[in-house]
Amino acid sequence: MKLILGITGASGSIYAKRFLLKAKERFDVELIVSKNGEAVLKHEGCEDILQNAKVHAIDDFFAPPATGSSSYAGMAILPCSMGTLGRIAAGTSDNLLIRAADVCLKESRPLILVPREMPLSEIHLENMLKLKRAGAAIIPASPHFYKHPKTIEELVDTVVERVLGAGSCV
Ligand SMILES: Cc1cc2nc3c(=O)[nH]c(=O)nc-3n(C[C@H](O)[C@H](O)[C@H](O)COP(=O)(O)O)c2cc1C
Repeated sequence: MKLILGITGASGSIYAKRFLLKAKERFDVELIVSKNGEAVLKHEGCEDILQNAKVHAIDDFFAPPATGSSSYAGMAILPCSMGTLGRIAAGTSDNLLIRAADVCLKESRPLILVPREMPLSEIHLENMLKLKRAGAAIIPASPHFYKHPKTIEELVDTVVERVLGAGSCV
């Protein structure tokens, strides 16, 4: 089954890297990366992600994720910027990543957003509430420590596993 991984220009490229690694064990993962997502991937040393899965061009509205007639298990966006989150909430569909998220919502397919920002403004919180009510799952990039992670990867995986976990995602 195919799964879409959206990567935006929020900090936390390692979340996308670890998610791709684990999701590939179960899914045929296709990437959509925003322009700022690409810049931050490079800045945070994770640009090798782009070699490890099929990548759809951000402005290609002819690509399969742009239409509900294509079959996908769902979409995860991590890390998710407040900009992308706001545009999904507004239904702009103005790039392939946002259109693919819009398609998931209209087709009632799982859409998981992993926002990373602090502090959160009233606008951010209202957008999250709107998306939750529209059917998206919001899983903030808030790792937990109670299993005593020893590496950054183990810490990051506490979020990645929730995204992949039963009940919250695909
Ligand atoms: C190094 C860097 C880190 C950033 N981190 C965040 C972040 O954690 N959260 C966020 O919402 N935006 C962050 N931004 C700002 C977004 O990249 C910017 O709002 C951009 O317009 C998002 O575009 P996109 O949603 O199309 O990727 C960061 C920008 C840079 C350059």
